[in-house]
Amino acid sequence: MGKTIIISNRLPVQLQINNGTITAVPSVGGLATGMKSVHSGGDSLWIGWSGLTDEQIPEELVKDIDIALAKHGSSKVCLTADEVEGFYYGFSNRTVWPLFHYFLEYSEFELDSWETYKAVNQKFADAILEKATDDDTIWVHDYQLMLVPQMVRERRPEISIGFFLHIPFPSFEIFRTLPWREEVLMGLLGADLIGFHTYDYERHFLSSVRRLLGLEVSFNDISLDDRVIKVDSFPMGIDYKKFSEAAKEHNNSTEKQKSELQKRLDTHKKSAPDAKFLLSIDRLDYSKGIAKRIYAFEYFLNKYPQYKEKVRLVLLAVPSRSNVPQYQLLKKEVDELVGRINGEFSTVSWTPIWYFYRSMPFENLIDLYTSSDIAWLTPLRDGMNLVAKEYIATRVDKTGVLILSEMAGSANEMNESLLINPNNFEQISDALHTAINMPKAEQQRRNTILQKRLERYNVEKWANDFMNSLLDQKKKDHTYI
Ligand code: UDP
Ligand code: G6P
Repeated sequence: MGKTIIISNRLPVQLQINNGTITAVPSVGGLATGMKSVHSGGDSLWIGWSGLTDEQIPEELVKDIDIALAKHGSSKVCLTADEVEGFYYGFSNRTVWPLFHYFLEYSEFELDSWETYKAVNQKFADAILEKATDDDTIWVHDYQLMLVPQMVRERRPEISIGFFLHIPFPSFEIFRTLPWREEVLMGLLGADLIGFHTYDYERHFLSSVRRLLGLEVSFNDISLDDRVIKVDSFPMGIDYKKFSEAAKEHNNSTEKQKSELQKRLDTHKKSAPDAKFLLSIDRLDYSKGIAKRIYAFEYFLNKYPQYKEKVRLVLLAVPSRSNVPQYQLLKKEVDELVGRINGEFSTVSWTPIWYFYRSMPFENLIDLYTSSDIAWLTPLRDGMNLVAKEYIATRVDKTGVLILSEMAGSANEMNESLLINPNNFEQISDALHTAINMPKAEQQRRNTILQKRLERYNVEKWANDFMNSLLDQKKKDHTYI
């Protein structure tokens, strides 16, 4: 049995060079945070992009970059600035991301960026081929690398390849609009196992395979030449223990051990003990419905004016993909909205929205999760949404209410939260009202069930299920031949 090679665009850390010194910053996003726990527990190599373009790496630091990544069990794929533009900002985030999240009007179909996507996928495939033996298991991640399975398969027909998509797979009617749809499907079908977060994404994928490629699909098996490819759903979990233990430790910390952020949160709590904290955490991404959430907050304050000075929205928006115009526009929109609503509703002692535009270290995320009475997550479309799961895992005394969009993959496993349609402001306002007034015993009843489920189906179980299924598939495939 060989090693596992994980391949994704993002590595667990992003490298930065400041005054000739290399620093490694933890990557943000569900793929990196989730896989980091899987990676640290096993014997695996993680191949990906360092976050620096070739032009940003001086000759004398090339070796140090490799050393810095090796500390995280990682190895780099080098990308030029042009490649990052066409592959990452271009095809990945201006074509696939919006299309797969049902933002058809944002999707650009540019031949040049498709060509760069293909070339960069080949670079990732070559990096794998260079490191892998036939005994190794290859686990390719996410929409940036959909052609890699086939590219590796062509050169290593016997090697075991799994692919997991961390974002939604859209319905056939949406997917069919992509000019290179057959190539993308064929790229994915190089894998032995293709995994999705939910059964719906799996169903959509199978329907596209059937209708666009005319392949035989029996239950969740696809026959292609002499191979059988299995498609299945594996809802990604979190490192439950890490979050719950960190929250316990946090709750037992002395005044001296508290972070500056926690001290500020405490001061606000003391000045208005009955006021509730609503928390929203997302990358600043249009799929997350942040602007709509702020509009819904305004709607709520107008519908239930009794909550003025009684609720505060803590809004953490993490900078993301800021070279893409849609993200720049969103930043402007959110800044303006927060300014307008704070201007409209603030009083001498109360600012309704407390806005952070930055990423937070793990300790501060725990401060926010444990200090918030309500987590309010309203993506318009989201592959999974791990933040929802992390919030619940940190609720040591089982209090706290989760309001979650039904458009998030995680909603399938979190029925005990208050599920809402992010476009329905009436329903959202009422859910906020219900959450604010929910008796403690009811909060604890719901969270007891949620916590048990999240603890059982944690990220380790998710990874094991996927890998075992891949192993079974490989065995089966050999018996067919
Ligand atoms: N996160 C982080 N730093 C932050 C804010 C969030 O590392 O400042 C993490 C968060 O803990 C979660 C991930 O980023 O694990 C976001 O994952 P999610 O599935 O919610 O959304 P994604 O960003 O992958 O679309
Ligand atoms: C989502 C995607 C990941 C991506 C992450 C952060 O979780 O599924 O593939 O890494 O967002 O986005 P970024 O563009 O910064 O890698």
